[in-house]
Amino acid sequence: MKVLLTGGAGYIGSHTIVEMHEAGHDVVVVDNFFNSSPKSVERVEKIIGKRVPLYEADVADEAAMDRIFAAEQVDAVVHFAGYKAVGESVRKPLEYYANNIDSTLSLLRSMKKAGVKKLIFSSSATVYGTPDKCPITEDSPTGHCSNPYGWTKYMIEQILRDYCVSDSDMQVILLRYFNPVGAHKSGMIGEMPNGIPNNLMPYITQVAVGKLKELSVFGSDYPTHDGTGVRDYIHVVDLARGHVAALNYREKGAAVFNLGTGTGYSVLDMVKTFSRVNGVPVAYRITDRRPGDIATCYADPAKAKAELGWEAEHTLEDMVRDSWNWQSKNPNGYEE
Ligand code: NAD
Ligand code: WQD
Repeated sequence: MKVLLTGGAGYIGSHTIVEMHEAGHDVVVVDNFFNSSPKSVERVEKIIGKRVPLYEADVADEAAMDRIFAAEQVDAVVHFAGYKAVGESVRKPLEYYANNIDSTLSLLRSMKKAGVKKLIFSSSATVYGTPDKCPITEDSPTGHCSNPYGWTKYMIEQILRDYCVSDSDMQVILLRYFNPVGAHKSGMIGEMPNGIPNNLMPYITQVAVGKLKELSVFGSDYPTHDGTGVRDYIHVVDLARGHVAALNYREKGAAVFNLGTGTGYSVLDMVKTFSRVNGVPVAYRITDRRPGDIATCYADPAKAKAELGWEAEHTLEDMVRDSWNWQSKNPNGYEE
């Protein structure tokens, strides 16, 4: 298939180019580089030994997207493009609603004109809010999101479901990612957060490389095995392969799948495994809980296994090793 990746220069998108290429698909990327650099796609081209058509455009620019669809004749779209920083979304709700929702609406209009009937969307476990049980199945209640970013994912899921009702040929696959970490094993592509990272793994790697002094562990009084928060960390290459599996899914209408491993690890599990596997110390200090955090969150990934034939294969050791390989080879990300 020929697949258009919106936001394909970003962290998950760049890894997905590689996995789609390896599965025999052709990929086209559109990105406005709001949170990425064309260098990630240049690195991908080195990994796969092939040029990747790359368009610099805002997905909300309908005329630009119409031109891209006319030029490329794609069979499917994966919609990664969006703003994703939880804390920033609380400070800038209008920017988050505008970018994430407008870009989706205009993408759908362009797809309609171009007759493209398959869309895979980057949703998030954040739509489950505070889960009523773990592991979380896809039919668990959604909503009660704790921030505007989460609500954009919730609202876009609904928009896409409604759109499928209006067009019986349309196929939408909502992929709810758990906590993506790690990097391609080459160490050539990886996550490049702007400023001080909000997420645990890039914070750990930046402490390990000496850019940050110590990790604050947000709370040690949760009802978990060691008192620190538990999450379902998933290797970004496994996540990327989940998109390849979704390309082969044939049912019409809207379908939703969790992409997680099904196993939860605590903050201290992550710190200790990182230090042991990489032989690098990570200084940390226990601090107060972070507002809005939940104790435990991990997926039931059985539906993706049964219906997409996909399951995560990388171990926690793979995740911490590959995260460190990327960070230590690229202390400043894509800046040389
Ligand atoms: P990322 O920021 O690295 O990638 C997103 C890309 O979209 C960036 O390259 C950015 O420049 C681009 N972009 C943003 N708005 C755009 C627009 N209007 N037009 C064109 N390009 C635009 O983020 P990521 O971690 O790769 O996440 C990809 C998707 O997965 C996002 O939708 C995110 O919300 C979702 N997601 C991420 C996580 C995570 O923890 N990383 C978890 C769940 C869901
Ligand atoms: C993981 C654990 C923290 C940083 C977020 C979004 C979610 C999704 C993934 C996009 C928690 C603890 C963290 C630190 C810490 N993104 N922690 N010190 O909060 O599970 O999910 O990213 O959709 O929507 O909310 O991920 O990596 O921020 O935190 O102790 O400096 O690490 O308390 O237990 P989270 P995270």
